[in-house]
Amino acid sequence: MMTKKITMRVNGREVVVEVDIRESLLEVLRGRLNLKGVKKGCSVGECGACTVLINGEPIDSCIYLAVWTDGKEIRTIEGEETGGKLSKLQQAFVDEGAVQCGFCTPGFIMSARALLDSGKKLTRQDIIKGLSGNMCRCTGYQNIIKAVEKAIEDKA
Ligand code: FES
Ligand code: FES
Repeated sequence: MMTKKITMRVNGREVVVEVDIRESLLEVLRGRLNLKGVKKGCSVGECGACTVLINGEPIDSCIYLAVWTDGKEIRTIEGEETGGKLSKLQQAFVDEGAVQCGFCTPGFIMSARALLDSGKKLTRQDIIKGLSGNMCRCTGYQNIIKAVEKAIEDKA
């Protein structure tokens, strides 16, 4: 097994971890750093359940090698709440009934976070496009879009 020591910032905290060069970022986040909010769905870059932000960009962590994150900034769903309090974005998902089984929710929230942080004025079309890499098996798309619109109103 070939390993490499990498340093990344995860939700604002510096983390040094020795990874197998073939390991995905998803495996490292869930298995080593215990960030179980990052979900494993398809494992082949199709469903978006594993979406995290890498230097602000939403990425499918199941098909992104952990070694590529050396020196990068990672954000996961665990970075949304502060002191046990949901972020305005998370709250909007709750308020708009956008969480059914919840499996897809962390991925959707991270994609939405990237949209909100872009600072652009977002249309409904921009939201749909920004969330197009995320799938919801419970087909709650309408409420998810409404939740993001509410988060925009709330300046989340
Ligand atoms: S688990 Fe990564 S895209 Fe489905
Ligand atoms: S809420 Fe169940 S997969 Fe989306």
